[in-house]
Amino acid sequence: MNALSVKHLLGIKYLTREDIEIIFESADEFKEVLNRPIKKVPSLRDTTIVNLFFENSTRTRISFELAEKRLSADTINFTSSGSSVKKGETLIDTVNNILAMKVDMVVMRHPSPGAPVFLSQHINASIINAGDGTHEHPTQALLDAFSIREKLGKVEGKKIAIIGDIRHSRVALSNIFCLKKLGAEVMVAGPPTLIPMYIESLGVKVEYDVRKALEWCDAANILRIQLERQEIQYFASLREYALYFGVNKKLLDEIGKDILIMHPGPINRGVEITSDVADSPNSIILDQVENGVAIRMAVLYLLSGRKEV
Ligand code: CP
Repeated sequence: MNALSVKHLLGIKYLTREDIEIIFESADEFKEVLNRPIKKVPSLRDTTIVNLFFENSTRTRISFELAEKRLSADTINFTSSGSSVKKGETLIDTVNNILAMKVDMVVMRHPSPGAPVFLSQHINASIINAGDGTHEHPTQALLDAFSIREKLGKVEGKKIAIIGDIRHSRVALSNIFCLKKLGAEVMVAGPPTLIPMYIESLGVKVEYDVRKALEWCDAANILRIQLERQEIQYFASLREYALYFGVNKKLLDEIGKDILIMHPGPINRGVEITSDVADSPNSIILDQVENGVAIRMAVLYLLSGRKEV
């Protein structure tokens, strides 16, 4: 298996297209492992990984932990609530104390953009960014693109619409970097207040009419409104948002074409997506979650520098 050009996974912007393709090839192999009766390989048997979560998570935390267990790594789970962070300990002191216990890799989610980059400049272990504020969520973008490749045969040349709160979304930014590197056409859509002015400089189209975005795309990645990161009110009400920017079955029926429906989760049913769309045959939301384990196994394995699966 080829090596990655990076020591850490801090963001998609630091990866090459070849890195992404190496991760996908490795994830193909691990997906095959996950479909065996015994879903475990000894690849990281002598590796210790700490999962540091300074922010809430369901999918990413469980997915990383499962990926580590499937690779036979030893894992430690840390959440900031109930830790000495609450007594004023700094991020570097917390991590150095954990590393003193001979930890090899760190998976970190943190509310501050750039926290994983900062950490990588101060410690020797490999760092994997599991989401840093509004900045990047690289493994989510990798599993999203891997799922598009699986369902549509390839990513290159496909038209992908990212719909919703682009301004506050790390998933949007990582997806834009990943999809563009793989040769997809990318459009962002949503209310003007939730689409940043700079976004066109990243080579994406902008559309404020969700119907037009859906008519254009092969796949729609629908994002929730990140209310926890909104310091002011960006739209009148959730009801109005659902009416003008939500994706519902009536709208999709009127458009009348096959569109792959994606969502990174957590879903706010009835706001950005209705249940009849989230649970429809065109929805691959749970396939994305399944693929997340294979992608995270691939990333952990490749960053460990091991040669044999
Ligand atoms: N998609 C995602 O990051 O979900 P969690 O916040 O539950 O990890």
